[in-house]
Amino acid sequence: MDATHLIWQDRTLVLTGAAGGLGRACLKRWQSKPFKRLYAIVRTEASGRQLMDDLHLNSDPRIQVWVEDALHVEHGLYHINSTSPQGHLEDPFPFDEVGLLVNNAGLGEEFTHPSYSVLDMEEEQLYRHVQVNEEYPRLWIKRVLPSMAQCGFGRIVQVSSALSSLSQYVGENAVPAYRLSKMLLNGLTVLAAHEFKQPDIRINSLCPGWCQTAMGGPDAPLTSEDGARAIEQILEIPKGGWHGQLIINGHPSMF
Ligand SMILES: NC(=O)c1ccc[n+]([C@@H]2O[C@H](COP(=O)([O-])OP(=O)(O)OC[C@H]3O[C@@H](n4cnc5c(N)ncnc54)[C@H](OP(=O)(O)O)[C@@H]3O)[C@@H](O)[C@H]2O)c1
Repeated sequence: MDATHLIWQDRTLVLTGAAGGLGRACLKRWQSKPFKRLYAIVRTEASGRQLMDDLHLNSDPRIQVWVEDALHVEHGLYHINSTSPQGHLEDPFPFDEVGLLVNNAGLGEEFTHPSYSVLDMEEEQLYRHVQVNEEYPRLWIKRVLPSMAQCGFGRIVQVSSALSSLSQYVGENAVPAYRLSKMLLNGLTVLAAHEFKQPDIRINSLCPGWCQTAMGGPDAPLTSEDGARAIEQILEIPKGGWHGQLIINGHPSMF
């Protein structure tokens, strides 16, 4: 049995943004992994149902699809088979079971407006990006990290972007609200990693590469499967491995 098997064996995993390009590719890859339970979190019930049909998720009782909108967390987190988004949670979410968290959901509204200037950035647009790209990952970290710390095991992958780097790629693509929000996400990675230093708890930011998804567009050089592979590699980091890093092209990089 190789060491990566132990990362998955009997673990409970949360994947946000599960119905999007990279999320879906991750789910496809991971269906054969020996996890105990996988919670796929989607923004809308419709996309969740579509995902279930497309990947035949009903045939695997280990996988559950839950709905939560990062811009409206007050509406609740609910299992797709429960009757109502508000107040009718038959199954409370078992946050204390989670050993693996992939904060993959992300917003990049500006990619449809190239050459957008930092001076034109609207407060509301920036705030929406911060809500989805930093506040929502932070909410998930708050939900699951305390119990990870108690049992001494956890892997958290924060799906960030090379465009978040303060030292590289500056000026290459003017998407300021996206970039600022991912910088905050990286800051969160560093702060959480400094606070939680147990050797078998690893928290890292990752750029999955420029991939063909709704966000990446059709001209991207990498497929969504390539991006999913990059996410998996960081999720499977061994005990004592990289922690509090920004991984770009498979290696720790300058923030
Ligand atoms: N593709 C690339 O080249 C690339 C490069 C660097 C980093 N990334 C990062 O990779 C991650 C996945 O992106 P992707 O390429 O797979 O793009 P995508 O296909 O657009 O997927 C984004 C995912 O985030 C979800 N999401 C957006 N707003 C949300 C909200 N308010 N509440 C809950 N979920 C929300 C989307 O749900 P809906 O589909 O329902 O809106 C979708 O599942 C993102 O964090 C992105 O920043 C991507």
